Amino acid sequence: MSAQTTEFDPVVILTNAFGRAIAQALGDNAGAADAMIAPNKRPELGDFQCNAAMPLAKRLGEPPRTVASKILRALEPVPIIEPLTDADIAGPGFINIRLRPEAIGELLAAFDTPALGLVCEGEPETVVVDLCGVNLAKQMHVGHLRSMIIGDALARIFERLGNRTIRQNHVGDWGLPIAMVTHKLQEEVDSGRMRLDAVTLDDLDRLYKEAQRDCTADTRGLAAARRWRMGPKAEAELEAQVTGAEEALADAKQTLLRLQRQEPATVRIWRSIADITMAECLKVSEQLGVRLSAEDAAGESSYAAELAGIAEDLVSRGVAEMSEGALVVKVEGLDQPCLIKKSDGGFLYATTDMAAIRRRVQQFGADRVIYCVDSRQSLHFAQVFGAARRSGYATKPGASTPSRLEHAANGMVLGEDHRPFKTRSGENVKLADLISEAMERAGNVVAAKSRDLPADEVAAIARAVGVAAIKYADLSNDRIKDYVFSFDRMLSFEGNTGPYLLYALVRIRSIFRKAQERGIGFDRHAPILPSAPAERALALVLLRYPETVRAAAKHLEPHRLCGLLYELATAFSTFFDACPVLASEGATRAGRLRLCDITARVLADGLTTLGIPTLERM
Ligand code: ARG
Repeated sequence: MSAQTTEFDPVVILTNAFGRAIAQALGDNAGAADAMIAPNKRPELGDFQCNAAMPLAKRLGEPPRTVASKILRALEPVPIIEPLTDADIAGPGFINIRLRPEAIGELLAAFDTPALGLVCEGEPETVVVDLCGVNLAKQMHVGHLRSMIIGDALARIFERLGNRTIRQNHVGDWGLPIAMVTHKLQEEVDSGRMRLDAVTLDDLDRLYKEAQRDCTADTRGLAAARRWRMGPKAEAELEAQVTGAEEALADAKQTLLRLQRQEPATVRIWRSIADITMAECLKVSEQLGVRLSAEDAAGESSYAAELAGIAEDLVSRGVAEMSEGALVVKVEGLDQPCLIKKSDGGFLYATTDMAAIRRRVQQFGADRVIYCVDSRQSLHFAQVFGAARRSGYATKPGASTPSRLEHAANGMVLGEDHRPFKTRSGENVKLADLISEAMERAGNVVAAKSRDLPADEVAAIARAVGVAAIKYADLSNDRIKDYVFSFDRMLSFEGNTGPYLLYALVRIRSIFRKAQERGIGFDRHAPILPSAPAERALALVLLRYPETVRAAAKHLEPHRLCGLLYELATAFSTFFDACPVLASEGATRAGRLRLCDITARVLADGLTTLGIPTLERM
């Protein structure tokens, strides 16, 4: 095998080789046929099988065994397998493939470098990841959990593959609702009811809701009171409410204008709202091990000054048009256009996202912009992406095609009743509370397991287990699907959970500690000769690591990597039960120790790439 081999996964090697053979043997008739390489259904006949002959035969109108034979004749030598002859064609046209006995060991040895097969192929890309997206004056809730965890994992996956990433926290810090709460807080402070330096996020959350209520006129109630002649008292009360709400709304609009003009007194209030919200956001990110800093925040306010120019630009270039009094950009394939400016002159969520795409692509040079936002915003992103492509904002200066804009949509977090996850009283679950509960429960689980460890280490282990449990439960579920949040399930040390993976890693590390205690050395160049079925199975899972990370990046699906790590942990457990490591001797022990070492490194690398903390012992 050549020294420059960068492909370690037998399935990929065989898919490529058989793919070339099919194209060679059958030419254009084969189209872009898949080689259909799969694990052999009858392991006694081979490790893998190629199933392509049957569908191709149908298409070409030839007997499948003839097609299989043609494929074999066109197949160039594949160093990892035993040479194939027509005798390896079985049944209706399966081709049985056996790896050379040394092949797995050789592939593993080539894979066993610090890079673990993950080298950057081609030019690194600049990838912008839009994650978190908190809103000012609101507590973070489980809705933000997925965006943060998935966004961070995707960013780490791209970084692991050698790309440059830029995280962007598109903070909801502008517009009328923010002006409403700013005005409300201003009143509280001016009247002496609240001190600005003592305001908490809980206060803001409450003021936000009160401001919403203050500004919502019960015009329907008033109309009903008049229609049903509910009497002068009821009518007067409702009239007062409507007038009050209209006044509150007018005040908020004034506050918005003052913010736009950057009047210091108003900006001061707004700034403290922003600071309080962001402090909590950064605290939660840190607790969760999500890499997100103050510099990553690019709030809606940071685009406010560009919006009028964007509207003008789109009009002058004929991209935007008037429709029912509003300015819109029509998007092919969508019934509803992207709304740029309302008939009252106000700009929208979409307008700000257009400005954000322009900055991300044209200023930051993004080749790819990935939005980790829940699936209910799919239409919004379809409209904005379409409009951004049409307007040229999604195209890098000098480029001929737009950069890739992708919505990595996520499903919802559900409670055990399979409805949106809420507290008993029906409130959103505060993210801070959820994290502390996870830590506390993890503490109980860990304390029972790690009795002999010092208290501070137990606390650190509990934190890691709690974070691993929450993050892995989120990441291992298909991103687009809803999932049920269950502390008991995610904190279990059995099954497809974060703690199970941490435990698998710790177990391997303890083998090495024991080896050291017993004076057994470790040879990182020891030949690996996987012969027992459990050894071969473990090795084959390891070799799938690089391709799996690449696939997770390609499809924006961290759960693919979770799935592989879980398979790896279970394959290791089977291996460890079946194949004595320290109790064996000589070359067997040396080879098995090396297999353990590679397994531990892949597990640790995979967990870190997902943003999950690892442990030395527990
Ligand atoms: N603040 C928004 C919300 O709470 C999320 C922002 C998502 N990112 C974006 N570029 N639109 O819905």
